[in-house]
Amino acid sequence: MKLTPVGVGLLPLALASVLGTAAAASQATPEQRAAAYLASNCANCHGTQGVSIGSMPELAGLSREHIAQRMRAFRDGKRQATIMHQLAKGYTDAQIDALADHFSRLPAAR
Ligand code: HEC
Repeated sequence: MKLTPVGVGLLPLALASVLGTAAAASQATPEQRAAAYLASNCANCHGTQGVSIGSMPELAGLSREHIAQRMRAFRDGKRQATIMHQLAKGYTDAQIDALADHFSRLPAAR
């Protein structure tokens, strides 16, 4: 990989964010770590901290109840979606609750 000056400038920033995540992870309970692992499946669209870029809805700052209710509605075909109705089918009730708990703890971006 060839690092441009811009790339080199961003490196400490990227490292700091990785280290920050690692420090937070070491204080987490095994359940919270499992939830963070599950939540990594959501990061491509909803961001690593539940803060998405572009038109994807943000999960950070939403309540546990709201997230869990939406996930179940997508999964059970009660809520129209372009993509989430497919993804939500892969999760059990316990996993949905763990994901909802995880994202509801993340601070809203604005
Ligand atoms: C491929 C992109 C993608 C991935 C991966 C993804 N989502 Fe979504 N999500 C969306 C889109 C797009 C919407 C808007 C509804 C729709 O059209 O599907 C959405 C909507 C939602 C909503 C509803 C937000 C609201 O308030 O209306 C929740 C909750 C949600 N996603 C949770 C998750 C969780 C949890 C995961 C990981 C298990 C996840 N999403 C993974 C794209 C994605």
